Amino acid sequence: MKALFATGGVAALGGFAVVNYNKVDYGHRGYRTWYHDEPLGYSLAEYLVLAGTLAASPHNTQPWKFSVSGSNIDLYADHRRHLGKADPLRRMMGQGLGCAIENMAVMASSLGYSLFVDDSVCNEHFYDSGLVARLQYTRITDTSNGHHQTDDLKDLPEVKAIFNRQTNRSSYTGIGKVSSHYFDAALEQKPIADVGVTWLDDRAKCQDISEVCSVTVREFLSGDATNDAMKWFRRNRAEMLSTGDGISIFQNDAPILIKHWMQLAATKEDLVNQQSKQSEIDMVDTSCDHVPMWGVIHSSTDQPKDWLSVGRVLEKCYLLSAKLGYAICPVSYPVESIAGREALRQIAEIDSGRVPQALVRVGLAPRMEKSVRRPLQSVLV
Ligand SMILES: Cc1cc2nc3c(=O)[nH]c(=O)nc-3n(C[C@H](O)[C@H](O)[C@H](O)COP(=O)(O)O)c2cc1C
Repeated sequence: MKALFATGGVAALGGFAVVNYNKVDYGHRGYRTWYHDEPLGYSLAEYLVLAGTLAASPHNTQPWKFSVSGSNIDLYADHRRHLGKADPLRRMMGQGLGCAIENMAVMASSLGYSLFVDDSVCNEHFYDSGLVARLQYTRITDTSNGHHQTDDLKDLPEVKAIFNRQTNRSSYTGIGKVSSHYFDAALEQKPIADVGVTWLDDRAKCQDISEVCSVTVREFLSGDATNDAMKWFRRNRAEMLSTGDGISIFQNDAPILIKHWMQLAATKEDLVNQQSKQSEIDMVDTSCDHVPMWGVIHSSTDQPKDWLSVGRVLEKCYLLSAKLGYAICPVSYPVESIAGREALRQIAEIDSGRVPQALVRVGLAPRMEKSVRRPLQSVLV
């Protein structure tokens, strides 16, 4: 039956016309940013911002604002775009901002510039004005490694990764295949001060982490944070394309009939009822079982500035996965729980005193549908 639905735009089943909601109109403006892989028509600063907006963010909230002046770009947290009780300290928001910085730094260096990141303002201003970092680009004078040609930009693996990166929520295969290849490449990454990643591919430890995910998703869904998080869930394509943000069932591998029901019949109440919560639990249980490799990202302290740094490393993992052809997905339930963090710290044998900040699973899986983005104009202030 899956094959039947996969073949065309519309399929008939028992007399009902069923629209194939797997069909995506990538020509729509909600997807346009993913296709601007040449800097034509943009100033350098604008193009760096564009790369920043393609970064990962919690529930695709895109919680950023950018103020551009010459070669200076100030990055602000947009505190209207938060997950409420699902991110009470706005730690994930801070990490999303770090993801944007990393994309900008990679794009700058691909264009032959270095991006100086001053995040010393972050701890003081994160919760008031929202100013988290002052960025400044300067031309790299030693051009031996710089790529100053914009015409071959889109062929650079680093740049391709920015435009191909995605969160893949399906179940992964690849046990025994992923790790050595990935470990070597991960070790070559330029480190971010004070942030470490512990990679795990040991079968027993990987299953222990999957158990922590199972416990913490239940803990999270038993509280009232779900309602706030689900405000960023888009039930149908029209809503998703008009807001240009949020997550949806279309970026996961749910059966087409479920997507059909979501598109046509689901109400806001349905998103937070017991049945939906059970589906999320089942999804986490299934997708976190038999994961080939987990990565735990940790820092020594737990301040807004650390969240930016952790986000930079998280985005590095995304870009590396895109470059090597692997699927990746953060699983935040364990790090949003005090007991979950402690369990991760013990399983991954992370020094006491260090704080597990983000958890990712990595493996092999077919690509998913792209997420939407707001246009550049709406993030420039
Ligand atoms: C700090 C952070 C935490 C995230 N946590 C989760 C998560 O627990 N589960 C998940 O499926 N995606 C998670 N994501 C991925 C976002 O939902 C995703 O980046 C966003 O929807 C945009 O999609 P894209 O990454 O494919 O562009 C997280 C992203 C960030 C930056």
